[in-house]
Amino acid sequence: ELRSEAEACGKIILLGEHSVVYGHPALAAGLSRGLILRARPLDGRGGAMELSIPAWDLDLRLTADSEHPVARACLEVLAYCDGPVTGWRIEGEAKIPARAGLGSSAALSVALARLALPEADARTVETVVAASMAGERVFHGDPSGIDSEVAARGGVIAFARGEGVEAVRLRSPLHLVVVPSGIPRQTGVLVAGVRARRDRFPQVIEPVLEALGALVVRGRAALEAGDTAALAELIAVAHELLGALGVSRPPLDALAAHAVGEGALGAKLTGAGGGGCLFALCDNPGAAASVISAMAEGFPELAASPRTRAFAVE
Ligand code: PMV
Repeated sequence: ELRSEAEACGKIILLGEHSVVYGHPALAAGLSRGLILRARPLDGRGGAMELSIPAWDLDLRLTADSEHPVARACLEVLAYCDGPVTGWRIEGEAKIPARAGLGSSAALSVALARLALPEADARTVETVVAASMAGERVFHGDPSGIDSEVAARGGVIAFARGEGVEAVRLRSPLHLVVVPSGIPRQTGVLVAGVRARRDRFPQVIEPVLEALGALVVRGRAALEAGDTAALAELIAVAHELLGALGVSRPPLDALAAHAVGEGALGAKLTGAGGGGCLFALCDNPGAAASVISAMAEGFPELAASPRTRAFAVE
């Protein structure tokens, strides 16, 4: 049996992308209800499992001989959960785009685990994360697990390589606008680019990575104190430092500047860069709504890419 509905969060990296690769800490935030899955039994129950997520252009039959990575990942999660592997149709409603650095694969495997695990396990974060990792390994080889943790837990989490995750207690909710640039990017290529720049100019780039790590420590304190002004300033600094690493692009800089010009407190690229997404920190839901309309007016081409949306993080 599958449960009829389950959900999971998308994620953004608030602060600390790239420097986290070199052992510095990072902060990630869950984008709530990033993906909602609904399941219903198919007549006869014998047919292959079906998965449809229109926002991600996904319409798949999950069969053992499928080579599609999404099908393979889903079957791994279902097997881990001892769930059914035939006879159900699963439909997904996604608020986050796929392949844009917002943790779509982890959201899928976490929500699927919650559909398929026995009741008590489905309510235990550790079990859900472990089940989701069976799917994440199909997509990412040997992932750190951060995306699954934040997809399952939501809120803000702090993490560092080789250390566990820690929930960060926010003094006040964060109002974020997530802007997909529509520009494709590959995390591995961008991570390799940073490494090459660091190898060429270690005395220059190491201090930038150190500074990004220090930003995370200071940013966490700002979150815990509810000091939104300090957080916004640190977000702006992080965007500039990521530019120094070579992972920003003119369109990302223009989008960030426009968001701030239209009332956001601060904005930065999030994740690997090169394209993908930005986010803007806003004062309240009203400010977030006006930033969203200003982005659509200033950059009509954004309308063609996945939608800009507001998320509250608590
Ligand atoms: O793939 P993305 O966009 O979620 O970003 C990955 C974050 C990096 O720090 C750039 C890479 C990593 O492995 O942590």
